[in-house]
Amino acid sequence: MTGSQKSNAKIRPIIAGNWKMNGLLSAMGALAAIRDGANAPSSPRTLVICPPFTLLKTACDSCAGSNLVLGAQDCHTHGFGAFTGDVSAPMLADCGARFCIVGHSERRALHQERDVDVHAKALAALGAGLTPIICLGEREDARDAGKAHDVVMQQLERSVPDAAELKTPVGADGPPMVIAYEPVWAIGTGHVPTNADIIAMHEAIRGALKQRFGAWGERIPILYGGSVKPSNAREILALADVNGALVGGASLNASDFLAIAASLPE
Ligand code: PGA
Repeated sequence: MTGSQKSNAKIRPIIAGNWKMNGLLSAMGALAAIRDGANAPSSPRTLVICPPFTLLKTACDSCAGSNLVLGAQDCHTHGFGAFTGDVSAPMLADCGARFCIVGHSERRALHQERDVDVHAKALAALGAGLTPIICLGEREDARDAGKAHDVVMQQLERSVPDAAELKTPVGADGPPMVIAYEPVWAIGTGHVPTNADIIAMHEAIRGALKQRFGAWGERIPILYGGSVKPSNAREILALADVNGALVGGASLNASDFLAIAASLPE
């Protein structure tokens, strides 16, 4: 183990797949293959797939009792009401989802979601008993201007709920939330930050979480996302303060997703 690597033993790693707007009923075969792979004996980790809303209930039913858990890709800030076309966190929990991605950069860019919206969605997810995966990440222009750190710290400050806002008591495992650092320019592009850049950002996020939550902040998983593939997963997942990955494109292929999961350090 080099100086840039360390054991993340305190945190159970998570490999989460974000299927985005992909997946017809015919994709249930890939999901079944991931579920069966997730059940194969291996070191403790949590495997999550976030399919589109239309597949969520079928996916939850088919994975009940397995080691694969399901999540959603977004939720509304309200539980119920006159919000045509939206889906609420209690509805997702009712289907059997356990996680919910909030603040993905595609939502921020294409649906004009601001940090304040992401914060409200994270609270809505928590209120419904879901674990929010709160996404942060700078755009390429911010990275080029040397502002990546400031942008991500501001997103964290504004998007992540405070301990006082968590209505449910925080358990021994800390606040029930996950952070995903996903540089926007790395998503779906095949470009990945240098190891040093990933380490620096994850370290900064860890520091901010510790400042905000004290000891709990050491237990919040921080996932890296952006062009994670079987070929680069081992290297990325071994980096300090990388507690797993949020995987887009490669999660659509069962063997790629399982190969990424198998790349977690022992
Ligand atoms: P990618 O997407 O793995 O296809 O880059 C990651 C994401 O958007 O969560």
